Amino acid sequence: MIKALVFDAYGTLFDVHSVGKECNEIFPNKGDEISQSWRKKQLEYFFLRQLMERYKPFDEITKDALNYACKENGVELSEENEERLMNAYLELELFEEVESVLKELSEKKLVVFSNGSVNMIEPLVEQSSINEYIDEVISADEIKQYKPTPAAYNHALERLDVKREEVLFMSSNPWDITGAKSFGFNTAWINRKELVAEELNIQPDSVYSDLSGIREWK
Ligand code: LAC
Repeated sequence: MIKALVFDAYGTLFDVHSVGKECNEIFPNKGDEISQSWRKKQLEYFFLRQLMERYKPFDEITKDALNYACKENGVELSEENEERLMNAYLELELFEEVESVLKELSEKKLVVFSNGSVNMIEPLVEQSSINEYIDEVISADEIKQYKPTPAAYNHALERLDVKREEVLFMSSNPWDITGAKSFGFNTAWINRKELVAEELNIQPDSVYSDLSGIREWK
């Protein structure tokens, strides 16, 4: 019996590329490249820091990745624009089906579990239209171990006080849904970009093109 629906945040509930508009305003015609490079480096940096055992909170990693993306695209990032873009990360847009689906499922325990540091993920959820439906916000920063480490998923499990098999975990990020399945959660991959399955021999239990498919768990 599923007792908790646990959602990854960036890329799953919230569109990280909604900062592209802000990037294009500041860096006309380079916004999309900068946004793509920014997200790619953000992921790489927390993977690398986890492997090197040199943890840094997600807000600092996000700022480092933004600086890399601007250098890579040959643009100067002023302190003012760095702050403006980091603030844009606190107001990311929800994907369009998210609010209605979470509203329908609001009888269940709805949880956000993110690598985002508390000072990023809590304001983001609080300012969003799904805040009233979310029962818990859990950050990997609480134990300074990033997803997809087993320790990170175990931290979420301990915070929720349910059994592993009572959790349905959802993410659009292949590395995250694989990590959650490897840990032992029931998993639904929200494959928004219609990616091909990873060659990791660990398959999610369900695959949906967006969050609408999880209505079957009502
Ligand atoms: C999250 C992104 C990094 O953990 O997947 O919200």
